[in-house]
Amino acid sequence: MYKIYVTRKIPEAGILMLKEKGYEVNVSTKGAPLTKGELVTALKEKPYDAVLSLLTDSIDKDAFDAASSAKIFANLAVGVNNVDLKEAKARGVIVSSTPGVLTNTVAEHTFALLISLACRIVEGDRFLRAGKYIGWDPLLFLGTDLQGKTLGILGAGRIGESVASKAAFGFGMKIIYYDVRQNETMEKKLGATFKATAEEVLKDADFISIHVPLLPSTHHLMNADRLRMMKKTAYLINTSRGPVIDEAALVDALKNNVIAGAAIDVFENEPNLAPGLAELENVIITPHIASATVKTRDKMAELAAANIIEVLEGRKAPNAVKEN
Ligand code: GLV
Repeated sequence: MYKIYVTRKIPEAGILMLKEKGYEVNVSTKGAPLTKGELVTALKEKPYDAVLSLLTDSIDKDAFDAASSAKIFANLAVGVNNVDLKEAKARGVIVSSTPGVLTNTVAEHTFALLISLACRIVEGDRFLRAGKYIGWDPLLFLGTDLQGKTLGILGAGRIGESVASKAAFGFGMKIIYYDVRQNETMEKKLGATFKATAEEVLKDADFISIHVPLLPSTHHLMNADRLRMMKKTAYLINTSRGPVIDEAALVDALKNNVIAGAAIDVFENEPNLAPGLAELENVIITPHIASATVKTRDKMAELAAANIIEVLEGRKAPNAVKEN
């Protein structure tokens, strides 16, 4: 009987698929991310054939050593920056992710953040709850319209394209973008304009939304210099990975009104926030929940389970990560 280790409680839908195959499924009962030491200890407990891991797990040489019989690490995320892909490849271990099923959900959350910034929803909510509202005021919380404004997309993959489509069709925004690859569909369908550098997007956009994977080349893509290239009136939204922004530099930029505001769902050192970030009025922060709808998390769990089943039954993992 195949043995599977799941590093944290996930939606039951995925667990059921594995159990229906007759596999022994062991789920961590900690109720929090495992430390590296705890992960290694847990993986050594049984000769696991597959591991269902999370983006909070550090899947490195030690984890592969500890689960030396595992054929696949199925990561419950579209991002795989927590996995040492080189090491996996060298060992012939398959790594899979959960692309596609979360595209629209993440794009909707991104848009929720964008609209909340433009309409000053969170500031207004805080103000009212603090008992500061003394009546209608023609100058209270003046926001900014979206129609006719320019949305700059950094990273025009599935999620970036979905955000751009909502912006163009739903809100009449103009789309400019930068990616290492040109996205012709986005250009044809949405009239999006490709810019040859990220800097060109930064200087022209009223809203910037980041959708790049975390790679050495995208680490601190938004640093102090690039934040200064944005318009003073522009907003930054990040639902990709925290380290893509130099968070200390973002705090400085927000404090000194280098940009108008930011909304971020991901942080450089999760679960910790950069000092000063949570005290700022011109930032909206959500706890890495962009893909967190009931339906999408079920689908992610099912997709991770499906990848494990395919591999253990001798077929190809449908969502094996390319570098493998
Ligand atoms: C979430 O952040 C994911 O990568 O799926």
